[in-house]
Amino acid sequence: MTDRVIIFDTTLRDGEQSPGASMNTAEKLRIAFQLEKLGVDVLEAGFPAASEGDFEAVAQIAGRLKTTEVAALARATRADIDRAWQAVRHAARPRLHTFIATSDIHLQYKLKMSRDEVVEAAVDAVKHAKSLTDNVEFSAEDGSRSDRDYLCRVFAAAIDAGATTVNLPDTVGYAIPEEFAALVRHICKHTPNIHKAILSVHCHDDLGLATANTLSAIHAGARQAEVTINGIGERAGNTSLEEVVMALHTRANFLKAATGIKTEFIHPTSRLVSMITGLLVQPNKAIVGANAFAHEAGIHQDGILKHPMTYEIMKPETIGLSTNKLVLGKHSGRHALRSHLKDLGYDLSDEELNLVFTQFKELADKKKHVMDEDLEAIVAEGILRTRDVFVLDYLHVTSGTTVLPMASVRLMINGRPAQDAGYGNGPIDAAYNTIAKLTGTNSELLRFSISALTGGTDAMGEVTVRLRENGLLALGKGADPDIITASAKAYINGLNRMEYLKAHPMQEAAML
Ligand code: KIV
Ligand code: ZN
Repeated sequence: MTDRVIIFDTTLRDGEQSPGASMNTAEKLRIAFQLEKLGVDVLEAGFPAASEGDFEAVAQIAGRLKTTEVAALARATRADIDRAWQAVRHAARPRLHTFIATSDIHLQYKLKMSRDEVVEAAVDAVKHAKSLTDNVEFSAEDGSRSDRDYLCRVFAAAIDAGATTVNLPDTVGYAIPEEFAALVRHICKHTPNIHKAILSVHCHDDLGLATANTLSAIHAGARQAEVTINGIGERAGNTSLEEVVMALHTRANFLKAATGIKTEFIHPTSRLVSMITGLLVQPNKAIVGANAFAHEAGIHQDGILKHPMTYEIMKPETIGLSTNKLVLGKHSGRHALRSHLKDLGYDLSDEELNLVFTQFKELADKKKHVMDEDLEAIVAEGILRTRDVFVLDYLHVTSGTTVLPMASVRLMINGRPAQDAGYGNGPIDAAYNTIAKLTGTNSELLRFSISALTGGTDAMGEVTVRLRENGLLALGKGADPDIITASAKAYINGLNRMEYLKAHPMQEAAML
């Protein structure tokens, strides 16, 4: 018999704790809509007591999602739980998720509480949450390093107090699959009321074992997996959604458990999260890495041609990777573009499509073959677009081994031309210095990354920048076959988003 595993996605909460991955409300909403489309059962939208921004993002997501459960995280205090409830209460299906540490090391050094006091705090928190909603999750932080029998005692008390899900986190990524499975079995056997709740697991990847631990736990009886897209998260990250889902899908014969994930949206969702957070996916990452389905060895290619199953355990189409890589050319129309983007998992509004279409035509004039990756980059730029204050009109750079790098730039600023020139350490620095001078901005460049979207020397370069100005964070994206132009576009895109945030500090959601 195949059991159903609940997929609890925490990309927007634990995933956001990845260094440098903080997102604004509009970006979180965009990801939340995509996660709903992907079919996650529960989406943890944030930790409302942590900041105003988190509160706002949880409230916006709660108010806008239609079918997915929306969870808000809270420490085991009444104040945190009230704040989380205020943020999440308007969700179609709200969940309160409260946690307290249960390992002796956390009790002694962090909480300075006795075991009895922690049980009392957990029970009080769960009861309080239960007075607000029926749907309450309790997590025993650092559960994998907690005393087993004490853990069962805490879970039993939390379930008696009304928890409908109890979660076992491997907070510091310390567990080993067999040991973790044994712990799950122990909990199932020694927590007398465990049948009244769903047992969940939440793993971190410090030893590279998050997916293995999660799968072992599912095999041993856990029925909720807490995961993030691309495995992003605190330190080495969390369990990756795509790995767990595809392992359950591919090895259903052994694991005998299934999810409700629409696997064909895995790849577009992975791209979207990477685009928005600026966290690139390593090429050899399982399932969603650029090389995950690339067969290099001749003997493998020969086998694949004879029968794909010789070396391919999953079909690329299953995760939404089009096999029809070579797509449209300069004669392709709007209708073909819309339909191909839909196949890639992007359902664009008419306005977004118009924007993407114009850029696609421009690119098709420069580049003979427009690939899926090129289209995705254009979509990303379109999605991240605001009403632009700054538009790049002209860019000229000189650089090389014997000249001081110099850029001359003409921008349209609110429709009026402005032009200047400046120097820098390199051509990008020169362009950025000149753009900053022209726009009168002083954003700090927190992150700059560049990647070639396809093979070949005519490949588009995709640049992602993360900017900070007066506490506001904005992401910028730019793609162009010329990497200096791509860099300038990304910077200007980030500055435009920053201008929007300055004008609408509490209404980031309207950027959609
Ligand atoms: O890793 C952890 O312990 C957590 C809990 C809050 C669930 O993220
Ligand atoms: Zn965590």
